[in-house]
Amino acid sequence: MKGSYSSGLKKEGQKIDEAHTPIIAQELEDFWEFYWETRLRPIENLGKRAAILAASRLIRKHAQAQQRPLRVLELGCGEGQIIGSLLDAHFQVCDIRSSVGVDHDPRSLMRCRQNYPGMGWVEGDFTELAVLEELGKFDLVLLVNALHEVFSAGYSPETGEIDVPLAKQRVEQALLGIKTCVSPGGYLVVFDGLEPSGDPSQKVQIQFLSDQAREEFELFVRQYHPFRIRYREVDTAWTVEMSRRDFTRYITKSIFVRKVLWEKERFESYQYYSEAEFREVLGRLGFEISEAATFTVNGEKWRDRIKIQPSEDEFPIEHILILAYRPLNESS
Ligand SMILES: C[S@@+](CC[C@H](N)C(=O)[O-])C[C@H]1O[C@@H](n2cnc3c(N)ncnc32)[C@H](O)[C@@H]1O
Repeated sequence: MKGSYSSGLKKEGQKIDEAHTPIIAQELEDFWEFYWETRLRPIENLGKRAAILAASRLIRKHAQAQQRPLRVLELGCGEGQIIGSLLDAHFQVCDIRSSVGVDHDPRSLMRCRQNYPGMGWVEGDFTELAVLEELGKFDLVLLVNALHEVFSAGYSPETGEIDVPLAKQRVEQALLGIKTCVSPGGYLVVFDGLEPSGDPSQKVQIQFLSDQAREEFELFVRQYHPFRIRYREVDTAWTVEMSRRDFTRYITKSIFVRKVLWEKERFESYQYYSEAEFREVLGRLGFEISEAATFTVNGEKWRDRIKIQPSEDEFPIEHILILAYRPLNESS
């Protein structure tokens, strides 16, 4: 996985024992290496490992600073692997009984209750303020691969595509509500897909390296629901040209083509904000970005299936991880 870190975890004015950081990090790397192999094998990684590692370090540092067990909340928790494994790992510094996972899918919550019985599981829609207010405040709120589903719900049957301004408004509105669950002095961890930076309409050419890659591209174009994918053939059926925006949609989503998950995934856009938009929206809502990292998670999966033309062109960066801090001296 290729990544780029745009700032350190340390906040301005916040004291962190730098001398111990590498030791803690190393210890956690080893722990998570083992945990991932033994417990999280079935989950589709897609960079989630980076989110878990960052949240894990944040929990350690924040618990040390607070000198009390932390309350953790995950919104859109799915089957609970993210919050469940974090609490498993940090049971000594987290208040498990008052930590909560929320999802609107009752079947996922059933799995959560079976696999992680010690904590609270709430069935509800995290875009509803009443649901959030009922939950109370938390030291750490996790939003891992969840907000793009809020964006995707902004699909307009009239146009046959997501209504982008409306859908972005839905995401910002949801974040505004979510802020009520973050204690002043606490953190929001966001991990999700990323719109490419720069000019997303800029063209890129890709060459398919096998019949299978070409067939899967066609299936993707036909079945991907949130947006029409526009492309043109160049010279032969083996090379096509499309915008970087559509290319990013293709490489993040078509890994699910022909898999069981495709029936759900094909209705969701993984991309909605660029890094600049994430920063702008979170800033507008009063958060301070203490760390942001962007990744190319899918490049490795694709290098043997397609070639980008010109060949020095890079795979787009398609994932983002943000640790956002809610300042202490700010009300509501
Ligand atoms: C892609 S899954 C991610 C699950 C988990 N965070 C993980 O990374 O393993 C997204 C989850 O968010 C849930 N979700 C999406 N929108 C939601 C909403 N408005 N309220 C509650 N849950 C929601 C979905 O049901 C799904 O379980």
